Amino acid sequence: MCGIVGAVASRPVQEILLEGLRRLEYRGYDSAGVALQTEKGIQRCRRTGKVQALADALHDQPLQGKTGIAHTRWATHGVPNEANAHPHMSADQLAVVHNGIIENFEELKQELQAQGYEFSSDTDTEVIAHLLARELNKVSSLHTAVANIIGQLEGAYALGVIEKSDPSQLVTARKGSPLVIGVGMGENFIASDQLALLQVTDRFMFLEDGDVATLTAEQIIVTDINGAKAERKVSQFEHGVSAADKGEYKHFMLKEIYEQPEVISACLEGRISGDKLLEQCFGARAASIFDQVKQVQIIACGTSFHAGLIAKYWIEELVGIPCMVEVASEYRYRTVVIPQGTLFLTISQSGETADTLAALREVQSRVLASLVICNVPGSSLVRESDLALMTNAGPEIGVASTKAFTTQLTALMLTTIALGRRHNLDAQTEATIISALRKLPQQVEQALAMDADIEQMAGAFAEKHHTLFLGRGTLYPVAKEGALKLKEISYIHAECYPAGELKHGPLALVDKDMPVVAVAPQNDMLDKLKANLQEVRARGGELFVFAGSDRVQAEEGTYVLTMPECEEIMQPVLYTIPLQLLSYHVAVLKGTDVDQPRNLAKSVTVE
Ligand code: AGP
Repeated sequence: MCGIVGAVASRPVQEILLEGLRRLEYRGYDSAGVALQTEKGIQRCRRTGKVQALADALHDQPLQGKTGIAHTRWATHGVPNEANAHPHMSADQLAVVHNGIIENFEELKQELQAQGYEFSSDTDTEVIAHLLARELNKVSSLHTAVANIIGQLEGAYALGVIEKSDPSQLVTARKGSPLVIGVGMGENFIASDQLALLQVTDRFMFLEDGDVATLTAEQIIVTDINGAKAERKVSQFEHGVSAADKGEYKHFMLKEIYEQPEVISACLEGRISGDKLLEQCFGARAASIFDQVKQVQIIACGTSFHAGLIAKYWIEELVGIPCMVEVASEYRYRTVVIPQGTLFLTISQSGETADTLAALREVQSRVLASLVICNVPGSSLVRESDLALMTNAGPEIGVASTKAFTTQLTALMLTTIALGRRHNLDAQTEATIISALRKLPQQVEQALAMDADIEQMAGAFAEKHHTLFLGRGTLYPVAKEGALKLKEISYIHAECYPAGELKHGPLALVDKDMPVVAVAPQNDMLDKLKANLQEVRARGGELFVFAGSDRVQAEEGTYVLTMPECEEIMQPVLYTIPLQLLSYHVAVLKGTDVDQPRNLAKSVTVE
């Protein structure tokens, strides 16, 4: 999704802005641009394609200025071209960068066009530039102009604005789209996330919905939705700066796959003691809320949705209460029946996914309480939920979610224990699960040691166009996650079915050109799954099986990699690892852009 960077300093900011944009590349984009306050007024430069194209243009014709805004655009209204790239300007008076969607932009555009304002793009953002120019005919302060016009905007926005009459200030505002203020020493910044600014500061201020802020090099003035002066807390970035660097790894995705033993430990740290969960990790209000929970409604998107599907198995088996799981983009728009005592559980790496956030807002007043499992402190979902359990995975830069998923599962198991204590889960079972969780980092380490074998296996996929993933029980969502990983980074079509469904249709697809991946740990479903795999072999399908015991034998057309031992309850976490590595190596063989796959964004902050 779009990324914003802005700076106001007493030194030139062009390179700071460009570096900020590079650090936001992982979010996904198709054009980039900057606007700076220069001696000749506001000057801008925009390019389609990568930030490097913008950097090359600025290398040839640098822009000198100490205040500026910059943007990476992920096209929503209008094709990705230079005219639609941000910043947008109203004549030469002011420049705006925007993340979000202005839903009523067409009406506003018609009104402004009728008054003589000329549009040079197809974007919704350009209306903001002209609305501001019109407002500045009535009021003299840019801060007041921004505060006055945001009431006319329906939808979501994070804005950065500069205006030529006062080169020493940058005005920002947000509602529904992410934006942080980076607090520096004699300089201040804005960005879509903290990672973009770690080069210049590690102190951040988070704005509330409806806030407007004016930044100069020396101060930050914030007003709230009612126009009253507001104080917003400044907090320190919690992770080391190196968390946002690739280090020795070729791709962020590979680094993040390898970080999993460490981050699963971080997710457990301080939350378990002896053979018990420390329930206080959910916050002071959690105990009284959990006491009243009668069912759980899980809402999420993409990979986070897959984590929710696994949690459903856990909650219904170990807690013994109903658990529904649905993708946010459907749930938010249908008429939903919410039974009494519903815990509304959202799962999100970013905490900013527009559909998940909208679903929460839609039902917040009708549920017992909301809990978010999230990786980004200070994100909208964390701020707006009653309870939050952070996954502590550290920044995840690769668009393909990896360590976020396995730490979500870890956090969801802690949630299962907390709820289960009040229902079917006895102390003995809790102790067994805690012991399994403690062993997990080491077992994940052992699964990572299979990397070379998996890399070799990847060769069988690189030339294929279609694949099928199979699993049963909790391993079915794991297989779904494996298929999602493969399709998003290698662009190979990957279907996933619960293996018992094969004979109801998908078996018709199976032939020698469609490799079939199966996750087959030792559990109660293994015999059933083996029978399903026989159905595949009988139709000439080639099998690639991650198996937990010697009961799945390698033979012609069946390739088996044996997984490390692990407790059954933790199989979903462990069996995710080889599927992540497989998709990674297939993508590398295919030469795709592993960390920033085409058409995708890391954080989907618009609908
Ligand atoms: C998966 O690899 C993707 N990154 C995507 O499916 C992602 O999980 C989804 O967009 C939800 O994002 P969130 O966890 O930040 O809410």
